[in-house]
Amino acid sequence: MASHSIIGLDIGSKWIKALQLSESNGQFRVTEFGALEIPPQYSLADAIAELIGSRRWKTKRVVSSVSGRFVFVRYINMPVMSDEELGNAAKYELGKYIPVEVDEVLHDSQKLEELPPQEGQEPEMRVLLVAAKKTFIEEHIELLRTAGLVPQIIDVDSFAIGNAYELTGIINPQAIRQGKLVALADVGAAKTNINIMSDAMSFFTREFYKGGDDVTDAISKKLGIEPKEAEALKRNPGGDLPRVEECISGVLEDICHDINISIDYFENQYDKKVEEIFITGGSSNCVGMQETLEKTVQKPVSKWNPMQYVEADLSSPDAMQQLTDGGSQIAIALGLASRLRKD
Ligand SMILES: Nc1ncnc2c1ncn2[C@@H]1O[C@H](COP(=O)(O)OP(=O)(O)OP(=O)(O)O)[C@@H](O)[C@H]1O
Ligand SMILES: [Mg+2]
Repeated sequence: MASHSIIGLDIGSKWIKALQLSESNGQFRVTEFGALEIPPQYSLADAIAELIGSRRWKTKRVVSSVSGRFVFVRYINMPVMSDEELGNAAKYELGKYIPVEVDEVLHDSQKLEELPPQEGQEPEMRVLLVAAKKTFIEEHIELLRTAGLVPQIIDVDSFAIGNAYELTGIINPQAIRQGKLVALADVGAAKTNINIMSDAMSFFTREFYKGGDDVTDAISKKLGIEPKEAEALKRNPGGDLPRVEECISGVLEDICHDINISIDYFENQYDKKVEEIFITGGSSNCVGMQETLEKTVQKPVSKWNPMQYVEADLSSPDAMQQLTDGGSQIAIALGLASRLRKD
């Protein structure tokens, strides 16, 4: 089969990441990459267009994602039924679980697994229901088109991290903890996404609105300095490390506490144990993040850089440098582009 490609576009609140994945004879490679910190005076469409214009892409086809309060993800149990029956039943089922009218959303459903039979009960299966406000999706598609791209799929951030995990496991089994439950946590600027996975199976996702911005805010307020200065100090504390650590310890504990709540909830609900945490996202680099999380969840925590396992063949040294430097920030873009597998 000829080589084909797709761009995974992760539009974060601070950084836009675009990663082109290509497949040739069953081999996956990253064939272009760019990342841009959104300039304050730019519209999102302009920032996306600038990033896309700065690299040489083989395609304009793009998979992007949405997140936030107009996106609803629910894991529920339903009686075992066919995919077609599920498609019909999901719409009615969804009405019970989302705070907006079903007619206002686009939705999808997926059977995850049949549950072990319980005596005296009808056989049940676990189902994933996803819905997002139509107007929200339409605006997102318009944004991509304005930037000159051709949208193929609109995904959800938390699923994308899971898909990155699945893809790297296919490319290199060493990339994942085979047969074990792990929690992937992408700690960005404004939010944190969690996906609890075992191999290719996602059991639970959650998103909460805390991240690196809160860390920068804490430094800025406590030291009485401008956010820009606080951001620079956060990234390179140098000799100010003890002062920075003191400013941010409370915020880090808060973020890690919320990650722990999700893991606890999952473990109680499903009677399963998460064995390890993988952290990604720009804020996984924050001083003290890994240690604080390890202390809070009482499980091993590793930084996860999927690019350790995926080959890259890029158009320029500049792109290669960005990919190497930004490895912790690319999981979502890679997961979005991994939809190429089913293309
Ligand atoms: N070395 C570092 N130390 C601390 N924080 C860092 C470092 N590098 C990046 N960050 C933080 O990572 C964040 C950006 O990461 P990322 O690109 O994952 O966020 P985003 O995708 O734009 O945001 P979100 O997903 O929340 O919308 C910023 O808050 C930035 O301050
Ligand atoms: Mg992000």
